[in-house]
Amino acid sequence: MTRTSILLVLALCASVKCLLGDFVTAKLGESVKLSASRSCTGDEKFTLIKRLKDDSPLTVALRVDGVWEPGLNYTSRISHHSVFGVVLSRLNINDNGLYEFTCGGEIVTLIQLEIFRATPVSVSEGGTVELPCYYYTAGELVKSVRWERNGSLVIEMDRASREIRYGTGFEGKGSVSANWYLEGNLSLTLKRAQLEDTGDYLCYIQQDEDAKRRRGHPAAATLTVSKRHPDPDHPKDEEKKGMESWSIVAITVFLTLVIVGPSAFVLGWWLKSCR
Ligand SMILES: *[C@@H]1O[C@H](CO)[C@@H](O)[C@H](O)[C@H]1NC(C)=O
Ligand SMILES: *[C@@H]1O[C@H](CO)[C@@H](O)[C@H](O)[C@H]1NC(C)=O
Ligand SMILES: *[C@@H]1O[C@H](CO)[C@@H](O)[C@H](O)[C@H]1NC(C)=O
Repeated sequence: MTRTSILLVLALCASVKCLLGDFVTAKLGESVKLSASRSCTGDEKFTLIKRLKDDSPLTVALRVDGVWEPGLNYTSRISHHSVFGVVLSRLNINDNGLYEFTCGGEIVTLIQLEIFRATPVSVSEGGTVELPCYYYTAGELVKSVRWERNGSLVIEMDRASREIRYGTGFEGKGSVSANWYLEGNLSLTLKRAQLEDTGDYLCYIQQDEDAKRRRGHPAAATLTVSKRHPDPDHPKDEEKKGMESWSIVAITVFLTLVIVGPSAFVLGWWLKSCR
């Protein structure tokens, strides 16, 4: 397989809504499932290779008797998932790139794996939070900006028409500056954060109709929404305070009865006897 034919397949992918492969994004340090669109039959050699920058192939995994086994450079990171594929774990930046499932030497599926690094962002329930993302847009062919949460649409804004599409639950909640294209600021603002807003948010520029994507910088944010304090009356604290004042009363009464009472009696008796 030469580089030209790979490029040809990719070009084909871009023009006919790819049936062969896909862009897969995964978070640095986590795991990703890589699977072929179809399995290999009979005793054909079924392999997963990574195409390196110099075009040379590196065996990632090889299916032996129906079970995927790791290639030499992947011994501790590949595990069998199904007859179709594997799970690659502890992802590192060098895992970025093009993967090919080949069956008897013929490419079955192409996968472009993109590893992203996520910036941690946190907010408390009910608050407003900004997820930063920037991209050099000047003079760039840009169709729209798009944010996704765990792979589903959050918001997409078209540059020319300024038309906005929202993912479910994000209507009126998520927003991107109307000037995003002019300033290259693709940051997402989320209002009234809820615990269920937690997740990995990815920011993209879509370059054309075929939705060729470019990630912004930083590409992703991992949002954590923390539960708000049971405000505003602090019922637990009140209870505690109540308990405390009762104890003080009890101790005072006890001291009065046990110490002050008898002492006063003894003092009175002594004063009387002194007269
Ligand atoms: C694969 O592993 C061998 C031996 O450890 C090493 O020399 C080689 O550089 C590795 N190749 C890649 C692409 O990491
Ligand atoms: C980017 O846009 C957001 C609103 O979408 C704004 O809060 C933020 O300040 C902007 N960043 C800069 C550097 O201007
Ligand atoms: C998104 O993914 C994260 C991490 O896998 C998970 O903790 C979170 O619950 C998911 N959020 C939604 C809404 O699916």
